[in-house]
Amino acid sequence: MRVPHGDGGPSRSELERASELIRGADRVVALTGAGISAESGVPTFRDAGGLWRNHRPEELATISAFERDPRTVWEWYEWRRGFLATCEPNEGHRALARFLLRRGGPAALVTQNVDGLHTRAAIEEAGEGPPDAALPIEIHGAIARDRCNRCGMRAEAEPLGDSLPRCAECGGLRRPDVVLFGEMLDGALLARAQDLAARADLCLVIGTSAVVYPAAAIPLATLHAGGSIVEVNPRATDLTGAAAVALRGAAGEVLPALLD
Ligand code: OAD
Repeated sequence: MRVPHGDGGPSRSELERASELIRGADRVVALTGAGISAESGVPTFRDAGGLWRNHRPEELATISAFERDPRTVWEWYEWRRGFLATCEPNEGHRALARFLLRRGGPAALVTQNVDGLHTRAAIEEAGEGPPDAALPIEIHGAIARDRCNRCGMRAEAEPLGDSLPRCAECGGLRRPDVVLFGEMLDGALLARAQDLAARADLCLVIGTSAVVYPAAAIPLATLHAGGSIVEVNPRATDLTGAAAVALRGAAGEVLPALLD
């Protein structure tokens, strides 16, 4: 096993313990957050330099902000779309995609990220049309898609022009297809994610501060059903105490060492 070097990375014995848990598990589910995309250059939300350290979510990412001032919210997402177009999946996304492809079966990756990088990594690793196993359940939506704020119809995003985009079906205002604060998650997606977690022997929790619910409760479904949690994060989180092993390090280094 290749142990990532650098200060404060996980020890060989921690990696071996985590690797044993993974080998012994029939069903593995992964839950990812912004930290897995950090090495792709995508800012996280709550770390130093994170989006919510420099911007006010209540002005940019709430349903009431969208209803009050849709252009400001649109411009923020348009900026993020432009920024994400310059980012590539990193070694962490790729190692996870290869691992899930090797295991096969139904989807086993739940992500809070809206950046599309898991899907791009799965396509790159599998070639065209990757199987479900490596495709993420995107519980917070996908920034590359639009949705009608009135009738819910989904559509491919178009560049923002002088007037705000409207739904071709009902004329309602379109918005990026992401969950805004103050909104419910898609019930069917959340139920799938919770069900996967409850049936998993192991939940691999990568790069999330685990403070936003209901996402943060997903690994607890594995735990309460008798499974275990392995965490990959350079810092401790509220979930660390519940983890069988906490691997302190960057996902782009730890995941290839752990999974390949
Ligand atoms: P946060 O910004 O809250 O947390 C990012 C986590 O990633 C922290 O625990 C970091 O320690 C960790 N991290 C940083 N660099 C890392 C690296 N290279 N490898 C692994 N981990 C690293 O982001 P999330 O937990 O994803 O919601 O935030 C959850 C939700 O809050 C987001 O989905 C978003 C946000 O508001 C919505 O937009 C609905």
